[in-house]
Parts: sequence; C-alpha cells; structure tokens
Amino acid sequence: MERHYSVAIDGPSGAGKSTIARAAAQRFGFLYVDTGAIYRTVGLAAERRGIAYGDSAAVGELLGGLDIRLGHGEDGVQREFLGGEDVSGLIRTPEISRRASDVSAMPAVRAFLLDMQRSLGRSMSVIMDGRDIGTVVLPDADVKIFLTASAECRAERRFRELAAKGIDMGFDEVLREIVARDEHDSSRAAAPLTVAEGASVIDTSELTLAESIEAVCTVISEKLGVRP
Ligand code: DC
Repeated sequence: MERHYSVAIDGPSGAGKSTIARAAAQRFGFLYVDTGAIYRTVGLAAERRGIAYGDSAAVGELLGGLDIRLGHGEDGVQREFLGGEDVSGLIRTPEISRRASDVSAMPAVRAFLLDMQRSLGRSMSVIMDGRDIGTVVLPDADVKIFLTASAECRAERRFRELAAKGIDMGFDEVLREIVARDEHDSSRAAAPLTVAEGASVIDTSELTLAESIEAVCTVISEKLGVRP
C-alpha cells in the first residue's frame, strides 16, 4: 500500500500559511487542506443566523444542522460549501475573520470539526494548515512546521490583500485586528496557538514568497526523504 504522509503547518494569521502550503502541496502532489476556511464557514453560518458573539449555546445548536463540505479543483484550490452553496468568497471578509476567531474558541466547534479534519488526512497525503494541526488534529504528523512573521509584516501583507479586493481598511486598523486576533487565538483555553513539539519554526518576515515556499519545501523534503 502506498504510504500517506501528513504535513502540519501552523502559525498566526497573515504569516502566508495558505499560499505557501498550497504551493508546497502542489509541488509534492499532496492534498492541501485549509482548516481556517472551515472555521470561517461555521462563522458565516453563525453570522447569518444572527447569533451573538460568544453565544456558544446557540452555536452548539447550529452545529447539528450544518452541512459543510470541501471541494478541491484541479489546481488544488480548496472551495467551501455551506448547505451546497459555494461560500469560498464570502468567508474572506474582516467580519467573518472576527466571527471565525470567535467560534473557533468554542470547544463544541473544535470537537465538531476534529473528525472532519482527521478523516481528510487518512485518505491521502496532506498538507494541512491551521492553528492546532501539529498539536491536536494530527499530533503524529510526519512533518510539523510553525510559520510566523512579525505582526507589522503580516499586517502589511493583509492590508495589500484587502486593498486588492477593494476592501478599504487603514493599515493601523489592519494591524490592530491582527494583534487582537493573535491574542485571542493564543490565549483561548481550547487548543490555543502554540508551537508543536518538534516543529521547525520558519519566520518569513525577511523572506519573499518564493523564498518562503522554498524554505518550507526544503524542510518537508529533508524530513520525508522525498523530492518535490
Ligand atoms: O487561518 P484563518 O485566518 O483563515 O483562520 C480563521 C480563524 O480560525 C482564526 O481566527 C483561527 C481559527 N482557526 C483555528 O482556531 N484553528 C485552526 N486549525 C484554523 C483556524
């Protein structure tokens, strides 16, 4: 039987995880799984239902009826479906970022999504990115990487991304959001963002995107003994 590899990439928002993980997955021919997008989809469902922030009882009730599916195009790009509707674009707004951060602190949400994430890693080789992949979702991952960058660098990248999408937010506000989200994701009781034991830490502050992809692929290649 062909061996399945698992690569866990964790780190704070805006460190470039998704872009880098997707590119690395394409090089190695692995499936790319963006777990943040799944939390965002739950966040969107909570938003649509008009649930108050922090109302974990209402979110808990919502979970039972949720139909969340992931699809992957030929290009390896993941798309998210909520009740059959493609919501991939709708979950990328600052509002849903805050929602995702809120619902992701709820233990019921994390438990609900755990099996879904683990089962994706069973059927084929994956590169999964998130906050708790190396610590909770795939603690036995073959490769663990913690991808980070300074808050200013991450805010600068996010600012440019939002501007390209026509979302008008000042740099200071983007930076404040990044710092607040870091704080929320790292200080929560349920699966906080931490460096997994044995993880290779890669700081992309001073690296270009191409250099970051190269650094990640080098770690994967060395650990797995396979070439991209
Ligand atoms: O990576 P992202 O910005 O799309 O993630 C959205 C939110 O989901 C973020 O606030 C942290 C949370 N998240 C999480 O708690 N655990 C994961 N494995 C992935 C994301």
